[in-house]
Amino acid sequence: MGAPELRDLDWDAEAAAFDEEPDHGLRDPGVRAAWADRLRSWLPERPADVLDLGCGTGSLSLLAAEQGHRVTGVDASPAMVERARAKLAGRDAVVLHGEAGAPPVGEQRFDVILVRHVLWTLPGPDRVLRHWRALLRPGGRFVLVEGVWGTVHPVGIPAGRLAALLAPLSPDVRVERLSDDPLLWGRDVDDERYAVVATV
Ligand SMILES: C[S@@+](CC[C@H](N)C(=O)[O-])C[C@H]1O[C@@H](n2cnc3c(N)ncnc32)[C@H](O)[C@@H]1O
Repeated sequence: MGAPELRDLDWDAEAAAFDEEPDHGLRDPGVRAAWADRLRSWLPERPADVLDLGCGTGSLSLLAAEQGHRVTGVDASPAMVERARAKLAGRDAVVLHGEAGAPPVGEQRFDVILVRHVLWTLPGPDRVLRHWRALLRPGGRFVLVEGVWGTVHPVGIPAGRLAALLAPLSPDVRVERLSDDPLLWGRDVDDERYAVVATV
């Protein structure tokens, strides 16, 4: 990540090479283990219904499924959906084509809304978070992995702003800094990367 035009990327065109980034494809065992450990600490201990919005090629969805959770992925890019379906084949998981801001899940409710590197691209994040809040069961949680990428033309959403947006929706907002763990990214990073876990 790191350019202002990221918000308008053609994700279908990006899909084929998406998993080549260490933190996208999680192909390196060390990177994969680092994300698996973090995810385990953010997700409920018991098997839960996880909604992964803007799931991309399904890398985090697969980790969640491997940890025993039931996963619904949603992505607006047909090429990403195709890859995620292939990656999650045989798992307790479905991948839907649709808008992250208004996921096509009908009356279904979830224990976890998992979103990595997507919220900052959506118009009206406060409205989107309220909509997602309504999709959570009582006691459910948001697990949001976001950041601010680049220094010349930074893009993204700062942790403080996201925590403030979540404050009216959650009595328990916890920010975890991820910038200082190079294992997550496959290299050192010096921009702002973090996860927010917010229980409702
Ligand atoms: C940076 S990628 C992140 C993918 C995945 N969350 C991950 O961390 O590996 C952004 C993803 O969000 C999807 N996306 C972007 N805008 C979306 C929207 N409005 N609704 C659903 N998916 C969207 C893109 O197709 C892409 O797969």
